[in-house]
Amino acid sequence: MDNRVLVTGAAGFIGSNLCERLIADGYYVTAIDSFTDYYDPGRKRMNLSNIISHKNFELIEEDINSCDIREIISDSRCVFHLAAQAGVRMSWGKEFSVYVDSNILTTQKILEALKENKRTKLVYSSSSSVYGQTDKLPMCEDQILKPVSPYGVTKLSGEHLCELYRINFGVNTLSLRYFTVYGPRQRPDMAFSRFIIAALTGGEIEIYGDGRQTRDFTFVSDAVEANIATMQYDGKETIFNIGGGSRVSVLEVLEILKNRISENFDIAFLDRAKGDVLDTWADTSVAKRELGFSPRIDLEEGIEREIEWYRNFLTSNKQGR
Ligand code: UGA
Repeated sequence: MDNRVLVTGAAGFIGSNLCERLIADGYYVTAIDSFTDYYDPGRKRMNLSNIISHKNFELIEEDINSCDIREIISDSRCVFHLAAQAGVRMSWGKEFSVYVDSNILTTQKILEALKENKRTKLVYSSSSSVYGQTDKLPMCEDQILKPVSPYGVTKLSGEHLCELYRINFGVNTLSLRYFTVYGPRQRPDMAFSRFIIAALTGGEIEIYGDGRQTRDFTFVSDAVEANIATMQYDGKETIFNIGGGSRVSVLEVLEILKNRISENFDIAFLDRAKGDVLDTWADTSVAKRELGFSPRIDLEEGIEREIEWYRNFLTSNKQGR
Protein backbone atom coordinates (compact mmCIF):
# COMPACT_ATOMS: atom_id res chain seq x y z
CA MET A 1 0.00 0.00 0.00
CA ASP A 2 2.64 2.54 0.99
CA ASN A 3 4.39 2.59 -2.33
CA ARG A 4 1.46 1.84 -4.65
CA VAL A 5 -0.08 4.73 -6.52
CA LEU A 6 -2.52 5.19 -9.39
CA VAL A 7 -2.08 7.81 -12.10
CA THR A 8 -5.05 8.55 -14.37
CA GLY A 9 -4.32 10.15 -17.74
CA ALA A 10 -0.88 8.62 -17.36
CA ALA A 11 0.12 8.82 -21.01
CA GLY A 12 -0.54 12.54 -21.28
CA PHE A 13 1.84 15.44 -20.95
CA ILE A 14 1.88 15.95 -17.18
CA GLY A 15 0.83 12.36 -16.40
CA SER A 16 3.76 10.74 -18.17
CA ASN A 17 6.27 13.12 -16.58
CA LEU A 18 4.74 12.34 -13.17
CA CYS A 19 4.88 8.57 -13.77
CA GLU A 20 8.58 8.73 -14.60
CA ARG A 21 9.27 10.65 -11.41
CA LEU A 22 7.26 8.18 -9.29
CA ILE A 23 9.06 5.20 -10.81
CA ALA A 24 12.42 6.88 -10.18
CA ASP A 25 11.36 7.41 -6.56
CA GLY A 26 10.63 3.67 -6.14
CA TYR A 27 6.83 3.69 -6.32
CA TYR A 28 4.80 0.93 -7.91
CA VAL A 29 2.70 2.78 -10.47
CA THR A 30 -0.59 1.61 -11.92
CA ALA A 31 -1.38 3.83 -14.88
CA ILE A 32 -4.70 4.22 -16.61
CA ASP A 33 -5.26 5.97 -19.92
CA SER A 34 -7.87 5.61 -22.65
CA PHE A 35 -5.66 7.10 -25.41
CA THR A 36 -8.34 9.43 -26.77
CA ASP A 37 -7.66 10.96 -30.18
CA TYR A 38 -7.76 14.62 -29.07
CA TYR A 39 -4.20 14.49 -30.39
CA ASP A 40 -2.15 11.66 -31.89
CA PRO A 41 -2.38 8.66 -29.50
CA GLY A 42 0.97 7.53 -30.95
CA ARG A 43 2.52 10.53 -29.25
CA LYS A 44 1.05 9.42 -25.94
CA ARG A 45 2.55 5.94 -26.39
CA MET A 46 5.88 7.61 -27.04
CA ASN A 47 5.45 9.55 -23.78
CA LEU A 48 5.52 6.25 -21.89
CA SER A 49 8.39 4.64 -23.80
CA ASN A 50 10.98 5.17 -21.02
CA ILE A 51 8.93 3.31 -18.42
CA ILE A 52 6.53 1.00 -20.25
CA SER A 53 8.71 -2.08 -19.62
CA HIS A 54 9.68 -1.19 -16.07
CA LYS A 55 8.80 -3.91 -13.56
CA ASN A 56 7.06 -1.40 -11.26
CA PHE A 57 4.85 0.01 -14.01
CA GLU A 58 1.54 -1.38 -15.16
CA LEU A 59 -0.57 0.25 -17.88
CA ILE A 60 -4.33 -0.27 -18.04
CA GLU A 61 -5.89 0.92 -21.29
CA GLU A 62 -9.43 1.73 -20.22
CA ASP A 63 -11.87 4.59 -19.98
CA ILE A 64 -12.55 5.43 -16.32
CA ASN A 65 -16.25 5.78 -17.10
CA SER A 66 -16.57 2.19 -18.28
CA CYS A 67 -14.15 0.21 -16.12
CA ASP A 68 -14.17 -1.05 -12.53
CA ILE A 69 -12.22 1.87 -11.08
CA ARG A 70 -12.91 0.76 -7.49
CA GLU A 71 -11.01 -2.45 -8.13
CA ILE A 72 -8.18 -0.63 -9.93
CA ILE A 73 -7.75 1.85 -7.08
CA SER A 74 -8.03 -0.85 -4.37
CA ASP A 75 -4.80 -0.61 -2.39
CA SER A 76 -3.29 2.57 -3.84
CA ARG A 77 -1.94 5.06 -1.36
CA CYS A 78 -2.76 7.92 -3.69
CA VAL A 79 -4.71 8.55 -6.89
CA PHE A 80 -3.27 11.32 -9.05
CA HIS A 81 -6.25 12.22 -11.20
CA LEU A 82 -4.92 13.82 -14.36
CA ALA A 83 -7.24 12.20 -16.89
CA ALA A 84 -9.26 14.97 -18.51
CA GLN A 85 -10.41 16.50 -21.72
CA ALA A 86 -8.02 19.44 -21.81
CA GLY A 87 -8.05 22.57 -23.95
CA VAL A 88 -9.88 25.78 -23.19
CA ARG A 89 -10.74 26.92 -26.70
CA MET A 90 -12.28 23.66 -27.99
CA SER A 91 -14.79 23.27 -25.20
CA TRP A 92 -17.75 25.04 -26.84
CA GLY A 93 -20.59 23.48 -28.81
CA LYS A 94 -20.98 19.76 -29.43
CA GLU A 95 -17.60 19.01 -27.86
CA PHE A 96 -18.90 20.05 -24.44
CA SER A 97 -20.38 16.61 -23.77
CA VAL A 98 -16.86 15.13 -24.05
CA TYR A 99 -15.69 17.63 -21.41
CA VAL A 100 -18.57 16.68 -19.12
CA ASP A 101 -17.84 12.94 -19.50
CA SER A 102 -14.10 13.25 -19.11
CA ASN A 103 -13.85 15.96 -16.48
CA ILE A 104 -16.97 15.67 -14.33
CA LEU A 105 -18.31 12.12 -14.60
CA THR A 106 -14.89 10.47 -14.22
CA THR A 107 -14.15 12.54 -11.13
CA GLN A 108 -17.49 11.66 -9.56
CA LYS A 109 -16.90 7.97 -10.30
CA ILE A 110 -13.51 8.03 -8.60
CA LEU A 111 -14.97 9.88 -5.62
CA GLU A 112 -17.75 7.28 -5.30
CA ALA A 113 -15.10 4.57 -5.32
CA LEU A 114 -13.22 6.36 -2.53
CA LYS A 115 -16.26 6.75 -0.26
CA GLU A 116 -15.52 3.42 1.37
CA ASN A 117 -11.77 3.81 1.11
CA LYS A 118 -10.50 6.57 3.37
CA ARG A 119 -6.89 5.43 3.24
CA THR A 120 -6.43 6.52 -0.34
CA LYS A 121 -5.74 10.18 -1.03
CA LEU A 122 -7.04 11.84 -4.20
CA VAL A 123 -4.93 14.56 -5.81
CA TYR A 124 -7.23 16.23 -8.32
CA SER A 125 -5.69 18.15 -11.21
CA SER A 126 -7.56 21.42 -11.44
CA SER A 127 -6.75 24.47 -13.48
CA SER A 128 -6.21 28.21 -13.36
CA SER A 129 -9.19 28.40 -15.70
CA VAL A 130 -11.51 28.10 -12.67
CA TYR A 131 -10.77 31.77 -11.87
CA GLY A 132 -11.97 33.27 -15.14
CA GLN A 133 -11.64 36.94 -15.97
CA THR A 134 -10.67 38.96 -12.90
CA ASP A 135 -8.92 42.18 -11.97
CA LYS A 136 -7.81 40.61 -8.72
CA LEU A 137 -4.22 39.61 -9.44
CA PRO A 138 -2.37 37.61 -8.34
CA MET A 139 -5.11 35.01 -8.03
CA CYS A 140 -5.69 33.61 -4.55
CA GLU A 141 -7.35 30.29 -3.77
CA ASP A 142 -10.21 31.88 -1.82
CA GLN A 143 -11.30 34.53 -4.29
CA ILE A 144 -14.54 34.40 -6.30
CA LEU A 145 -14.43 31.88 -9.14
CA LYS A 146 -16.13 32.74 -12.42
CA PRO A 147 -14.80 30.56 -15.23
CA VAL A 148 -15.24 32.01 -18.72
CA SER A 149 -14.86 28.76 -20.69
CA PRO A 150 -16.99 25.61 -20.64
CA TYR A 151 -13.72 23.77 -19.92
CA GLY A 152 -13.19 25.91 -16.80
CA VAL A 153 -16.75 25.16 -15.71
CA THR A 154 -16.08 21.40 -15.88
CA LYS A 155 -12.77 21.67 -14.00
CA LEU A 156 -14.47 23.73 -11.31
CA SER A 157 -17.29 21.16 -11.08
CA GLY A 158 -14.65 18.49 -10.46
CA GLU A 159 -13.16 20.60 -7.68
CA HIS A 160 -16.57 21.20 -6.11
CA LEU A 161 -17.30 17.47 -6.23
CA CYS A 162 -14.02 16.79 -4.41
CA GLU A 163 -15.03 19.26 -1.70
CA LEU A 164 -18.50 17.70 -1.42
CA TYR A 165 -17.16 14.18 -1.00
CA ARG A 166 -14.56 15.40 1.48
CA ILE A 167 -17.13 17.20 3.62
CA ASN A 168 -19.92 14.59 3.40
CA PHE A 169 -17.99 11.32 3.30
CA GLY A 170 -14.52 12.17 4.60
CA VAL A 171 -12.81 11.36 1.30
CA ASN A 172 -9.24 12.62 1.47
CA THR A 173 -9.05 15.00 -1.51
CA LEU A 174 -6.74 17.82 -2.50
CA SER A 175 -6.83 19.97 -5.63
CA LEU A 176 -3.96 21.52 -7.56
CA ARG A 177 -4.75 24.51 -9.77
CA TYR A 178 -2.02 24.43 -12.41
CA PHE A 179 -1.20 27.56 -14.36
CA THR A 180 -0.44 26.89 -18.07
CA VAL A 181 2.07 24.07 -17.83
CA TYR A 182 4.78 23.74 -20.51
CA GLY A 183 7.94 21.75 -21.17
CA PRO A 184 8.94 18.47 -22.87
CA ARG A 185 5.91 16.52 -24.23
CA GLN A 186 3.62 19.54 -24.02
CA ARG A 187 0.31 18.95 -25.78
CA PRO A 188 0.53 19.96 -29.44
CA ASP A 189 -2.48 22.31 -29.27
CA MET A 190 -0.86 24.55 -26.66
CA ALA A 191 0.84 27.85 -27.42
CA PHE A 192 4.51 26.94 -26.85
CA SER A 193 4.22 23.72 -28.87
CA ARG A 194 2.67 25.53 -31.81
CA PHE A 195 5.06 28.48 -31.61
CA ILE A 196 8.21 26.36 -31.30
CA ILE A 197 7.26 24.11 -34.21
CA ALA A 198 6.53 27.15 -36.39
CA ALA A 199 9.81 28.80 -35.37
CA LEU A 200 11.85 25.64 -36.01
CA THR A 201 10.25 24.94 -39.36
CA GLY A 202 9.81 28.48 -40.69
CA GLY A 203 6.03 28.35 -40.41
CA GLU A 204 3.43 30.85 -39.29
CA ILE A 205 2.62 31.68 -35.68
CA GLU A 206 -1.00 32.52 -35.00
CA ILE A 207 -1.66 34.89 -32.12
CA TYR A 208 -5.14 35.02 -30.68
CA GLY A 209 -5.82 38.69 -29.99
CA ASP A 210 -3.06 41.30 -29.72
CA GLY A 211 -0.58 39.04 -27.89
CA ARG A 212 -0.61 41.19 -24.77
CA GLN A 213 -2.46 38.55 -22.76
CA THR A 214 -0.31 37.17 -19.93
CA ARG A 215 0.15 33.72 -18.42
CA ASP A 216 1.97 32.51 -15.33
CA PHE A 217 3.74 29.71 -17.22
CA THR A 218 4.71 26.66 -15.14
CA PHE A 219 7.42 24.18 -16.07
CA VAL A 220 6.24 20.59 -16.00
CA SER A 221 8.77 19.32 -13.43
CA ASP A 222 7.47 21.95 -11.00
CA ALA A 223 3.92 20.66 -11.52
CA VAL A 224 5.22 17.12 -10.91
CA GLU A 225 7.01 18.24 -7.75
CA ALA A 226 3.76 19.76 -6.48
CA ASN A 227 1.99 16.41 -6.94
CA ILE A 228 4.65 14.57 -4.94
CA ALA A 229 4.54 17.14 -2.15
CA THR A 230 0.74 16.94 -2.06
CA MET A 231 0.81 13.15 -1.66
CA GLN A 232 3.02 13.63 1.39
CA TYR A 233 1.03 16.52 2.86
CA ASP A 234 -1.25 15.98 5.84
CA GLY A 235 -2.20 19.53 6.79
CA LYS A 236 -5.54 21.33 6.64
CA GLU A 237 -5.49 23.14 3.27
CA THR A 238 -7.19 21.42 0.34
CA ILE A 239 -6.65 23.68 -2.69
CA PHE A 240 -3.33 24.98 -3.98
CA ASN A 241 -2.30 27.30 -6.81
CA ILE A 242 0.66 25.86 -8.68
CA GLY A 243 2.27 28.60 -10.76
CA GLY A 244 5.73 28.88 -12.27
CA GLY A 245 6.44 32.45 -11.17
CA SER A 246 7.10 33.36 -14.82
CA ARG A 247 4.26 35.65 -15.79
CA VAL A 248 4.83 37.11 -19.24
CA SER A 249 2.80 38.12 -22.27
CA VAL A 250 2.54 36.04 -25.42
CA LEU A 251 4.49 38.79 -27.27
CA GLU A 252 7.34 38.42 -24.76
CA VAL A 253 7.37 34.67 -25.42
CA LEU A 254 7.83 35.41 -29.12
CA GLU A 255 10.83 37.62 -28.33
CA ILE A 256 12.44 34.74 -26.43
CA LEU A 257 11.84 32.40 -29.37
CA LYS A 258 13.31 34.91 -31.81
CA ASN A 259 16.47 35.09 -29.72
CA ARG A 260 16.74 31.36 -29.17
CA ILE A 261 15.66 29.92 -32.50
CA SER A 262 15.41 32.43 -35.32
CA GLU A 263 13.37 35.32 -36.66
CA ASN A 264 12.39 33.11 -39.53
CA PHE A 265 8.67 32.89 -38.90
CA ASP A 266 5.59 34.86 -39.85
CA ILE A 267 3.09 36.12 -37.34
CA ALA A 268 -0.65 36.36 -37.98
CA PHE A 269 -2.87 38.18 -35.50
CA LEU A 270 -6.31 36.54 -35.27
CA ASP A 271 -9.39 37.37 -33.20
CA ARG A 272 -9.25 36.70 -29.48
CA ALA A 273 -10.42 33.18 -28.73
CA LYS A 274 -13.68 32.84 -26.82
CA GLY A 275 -13.04 31.34 -23.40
CA ASP A 276 -9.48 32.71 -23.13
CA VAL A 277 -8.85 34.89 -20.10
CA LEU A 278 -6.67 37.96 -20.52
CA ASP A 279 -4.35 37.34 -17.60
CA THR A 280 -3.34 34.67 -15.13
CA TRP A 281 -0.97 35.11 -12.23
CA ALA A 282 -0.74 32.68 -9.32
CA ASP A 283 -0.37 33.64 -5.71
CA THR A 284 1.50 30.53 -4.57
CA SER A 285 1.97 31.50 -0.94
CA VAL A 286 -0.35 28.73 0.34
CA ALA A 287 1.53 26.06 -1.64
CA LYS A 288 4.81 27.51 -0.43
CA ARG A 289 3.78 27.58 3.23
CA GLU A 290 1.99 24.22 3.31
CA LEU A 291 3.76 22.09 0.68
CA GLY A 292 7.15 23.76 0.61
CA PHE A 293 6.43 24.39 -3.09
CA SER A 294 8.66 26.78 -4.92
CA PRO A 295 9.08 26.70 -8.71
CA ARG A 296 12.64 25.82 -9.70
CA ILE A 297 12.73 26.26 -13.48
CA ASP A 298 12.49 29.79 -14.86
CA LEU A 299 11.01 30.61 -18.24
CA GLU A 300 14.28 30.97 -20.19
CA GLU A 301 15.55 27.60 -19.04
CA GLY A 302 12.16 25.92 -19.41
CA ILE A 303 11.66 27.19 -22.96
CA GLU A 304 15.17 26.04 -23.87
CA ARG A 305 14.31 22.55 -22.62
CA GLU A 306 11.07 22.45 -24.59
CA ILE A 307 12.85 23.68 -27.74
CA GLU A 308 15.45 20.94 -27.31
CA TRP A 309 12.73 18.34 -26.89
CA TYR A 310 10.96 19.52 -30.06
CA ARG A 311 14.22 19.51 -32.05
CA ASN A 312 14.65 15.82 -31.15
CA PHE A 313 11.00 15.08 -31.74
CA LEU A 314 11.00 16.63 -35.21
CA THR A 315 14.25 14.88 -36.15
CA SER A 316 13.07 11.44 -35.07
CA ASN A 317 9.73 11.96 -36.82
CA LYS A 318 11.51 12.87 -40.05
CA GLN A 319 13.73 9.79 -39.76
CA GLY A 320 10.72 7.61 -39.01
CA ARG A 321 8.98 8.62 -42.23
C1 UGA B 1 -3.65 25.93 -20.64
C2 UGA B 1 -4.11 24.48 -20.88
O1 UGA B 1 -4.32 24.24 -22.26
C3 UGA B 1 -5.33 24.13 -20.10
O2 UGA B 1 -5.61 22.75 -20.26
C4 UGA B 1 -5.09 24.51 -18.66
O3 UGA B 1 -6.12 24.14 -17.87
C5 UGA B 1 -4.83 26.00 -18.60
O4 UGA B 1 -3.60 26.23 -19.29
C6 UGA B 1 -4.70 26.51 -17.18
O5 UGA B 1 -3.79 27.25 -16.84
O6 UGA B 1 -5.57 26.23 -16.41
P1 UGA B 1 -3.93 28.17 -21.94
O7 UGA B 1 -3.53 29.15 -20.90
O8 UGA B 1 -4.93 28.62 -22.95
O9 UGA B 1 -4.51 26.84 -21.31
O10 UGA B 1 -2.57 27.67 -22.61
P2 UGA B 1 -1.91 27.86 -24.03
O11 UGA B 1 -2.58 27.04 -25.08
O12 UGA B 1 -0.46 27.61 -23.86
O13 UGA B 1 -2.19 29.39 -24.42
C7 UGA B 1 -1.52 30.45 -23.80
C8 UGA B 1 -1.92 31.75 -24.48
O14 UGA B 1 -1.45 31.73 -25.82
C9 UGA B 1 -3.43 31.97 -24.56
O15 UGA B 1 -3.70 33.29 -24.29
C10 UGA B 1 -3.78 31.66 -26.01
O16 UGA B 1 -4.83 32.42 -26.52
C11 UGA B 1 -2.49 32.01 -26.73
N1 UGA B 1 -2.30 31.21 -27.97
C12 UGA B 1 -2.33 29.86 -27.92
C13 UGA B 1 -2.07 31.86 -29.14
O17 UGA B 1 -2.05 33.10 -29.21
N2 UGA B 1 -1.85 31.13 -30.28
C14 UGA B 1 -1.86 29.76 -30.27
O18 UGA B 1 -1.64 29.14 -31.34
C15 UGA B 1 -2.10 29.11 -29.06
